[in-house]
Amino acid sequence: MRDHKMKAVIPAAGLGTRFLPATKAMPKEMLPVVDKPAIQYVVEEAADAGIHDILIIIGRNKNAISNHFDAVPELEVKLLEKGDTGRLERVMKSSDLADIHFVRQGEPKGLGHAVLRARSHVGDNSFAVLLGDDLIDERDPLLTTMIEEHERTGAAVIALMEVDPASIQMYGAAAVEAIEGSDAVRVTGLVEKPAPEDAPSNLAIIGRYILPASVFEILERTEPGKGGEIQLTDALQELAADPDGPGVVGVVFRGRRYDTGDRVDYIKAIVQLASDREDLGPELRPWLKEFAERL
Ligand code: G1P
Repeated sequence: MRDHKMKAVIPAAGLGTRFLPATKAMPKEMLPVVDKPAIQYVVEEAADAGIHDILIIIGRNKNAISNHFDAVPELEVKLLEKGDTGRLERVMKSSDLADIHFVRQGEPKGLGHAVLRARSHVGDNSFAVLLGDDLIDERDPLLTTMIEEHERTGAAVIALMEVDPASIQMYGAAAVEAIEGSDAVRVTGLVEKPAPEDAPSNLAIIGRYILPASVFEILERTEPGKGGEIQLTDALQELAADPDGPGVVGVVFRGRRYDTGDRVDYIKAIVQLASDREDLGPELRPWLKEFAERL
């Protein structure tokens, strides 16, 4: 795996209202998915793609996130004394993954606004954005493909996934054209959370983006859109529509994605990931079968 100069940005300033009261005092990004907080999967995904500088955009009540990525020497010493090397490794991993920085969003004015807060840290280089509600299975590397696509074309690259047409209203939707000789698609238009009858396709933006620094200038002047928020999708629509710019390319993901954004999907994600794990699956799978028969 090659290491990148590229930085990653993880917006984590959302309020997590769908998980109240669990998220009253704890950020939703810290909700455990099996035995790791959701945000650690995303940081690991970036690190696995060779990105080692990560900026997390946080809001109120998010101190647990920065604590999580800190070393806890007294805990490490205890585990070492006990000879519990497995746990020690897992505990240390969260602080060794990458060089992690934090910036506060201030007012939560939408995803586009959160990304704009990364401007001074990111500078003039292209950067990756990873949203924590979408977890991508580590066996299906998506980010690496997207980075390669960006290096080849210079375009902004977004991850797309086919969804049930009725669900497109929960996502940004893309109008696309085939690119000859490529698996990627050219994005000709983007709409944030359209009604199913207005959607240009059932290709949904899943939360992975490789963006040129020029997106910051666009975000600066992007007016609030859907839901009164400054939408990243609207800024990308402008990039897609600019005939003189590098445009927007979509990588259509067909691998395993786990949505942790709402309660039922979150539970499904935990069950799927746990039943796939070598340490937990053998005990969990037969129980799940039995449980399903009783339903
Ligand atoms: C955001 C984006 C949307 C994208 C989605 C992916 O929406 O605005 O375009 O499809 O993430 O998870 P949110 O889910 O934050 O409302």
